[in-house]
Amino acid sequence: MDHAADCIARCRSLALHTEEPGFTTRTFLSEPMRAVHAELCEWMRRAGMAVKVDAAGNLRGSYPATVPAAPVLFIGSHLDTVPHAGAFDGILGVVIGVKLVELLAGRRLRFGIEIVGFSDEEGVKFGFPFIGSLALIGELQDARAFGLDPNELPSAVAREPSLGYLEFHIEQGPVLESLGLKLGVVEAIVGQSRIELTFKGKAGHAGTTPMHLRQDALVKAAEWIDAVEREAIATEGLVATVGRIEVQPNAPNVIPGAVKATLDVRHRDDAVRRAAVERLIALAKPDHHEVRVDQPAVTLDPHLTSLLARSAPHRMPSGAGHDAMIVARRMPAAMLFLRSPGGLSHHPDESVLPEDVAAALVAGMKFLEDLETRP
Ligand code: HGY
Ligand code: MN
Ligand code: MN
Repeated sequence: MDHAADCIARCRSLALHTEEPGFTTRTFLSEPMRAVHAELCEWMRRAGMAVKVDAAGNLRGSYPATVPAAPVLFIGSHLDTVPHAGAFDGILGVVIGVKLVELLAGRRLRFGIEIVGFSDEEGVKFGFPFIGSLALIGELQDARAFGLDPNELPSAVAREPSLGYLEFHIEQGPVLESLGLKLGVVEAIVGQSRIELTFKGKAGHAGTTPMHLRQDALVKAAEWIDAVEREAIATEGLVATVGRIEVQPNAPNVIPGAVKATLDVRHRDDAVRRAAVERLIALAKPDHHEVRVDQPAVTLDPHLTSLLARSAPHRMPSGAGHDAMIVARRMPAAMLFLRSPGGLSHHPDESVLPEDVAAALVAGMKFLEDLETRP
């Protein structure tokens, strides 16, 4: 069997489970997520794993070691997507994990393996990311706000002794392609802030209200959005994005009375990021704002990273956030990037090359062998 082609085919099949026919949109605890669980569960069980869905909606497949109570290596990524996503962001990491267990062909190792498909990393449904991985490490607060039972959540916490966490993920950027490389090892993940801002104006009749008497909330927001772009361009290494706006009442012949906007700010240096957030909020002069996420930058585990680097010597930072940055709070974490053709992601044309998936499988098997022979 061409295992790399099989991984790609599985991702494309799973991408069909969507809330929006014609696109791939799969959010936290949605019906399509259950359909993805059913397909993955089938493959996991056939590979010899015991499978469950935990109290945070994470899919968990455990493959036992040669001895009971052995430490566990977690291999995972997220199963949720942004709206109109590609077929590989997140889910490829879970499919590769399952494939590695299949390639063991029943051989047990001195450590257990747990494959985790996180329920929500993108934060689309609640504007709050990393719900699944926060639950895995026991740090998810306000469970009820996400429709979860706080009494059940402790059962989702990974309590086994762990060797660490490994995440395979597409790079989602242009670097590996520009260097002609299949794989890259992630040394650090930049920090990110997510803020929600409200601009208030005064709704009114678009036809009868003279321009000098208007309080147009959308004009106020638009002037700020332009300032966000200029501020980010002027600050080395900073990226800032207003990805979603909601206009109220959102009618062609009504002057916008209010606008809700999201702001996503990232930088490798937390002090630079936080200072930029302060500046951008001050520039907005919003009627209300809430900092929903302040996720510090994370350095991944040097030892696990050095093991991966044997198969993929190029080391690089990640501009995208990943579950690894959350799991790293509780156990050594490492990430292996696969090249993103065109540097494209968060887009239906996102893709991955079979030869890169094949190289990732070889790197993954070598990683397991290295852990087996030298824990
Ligand atoms: O937004 C991100 O960095 C990731 O795709 N969740
Ligand atoms: Mn993503
Ligand atoms: Mn992702």
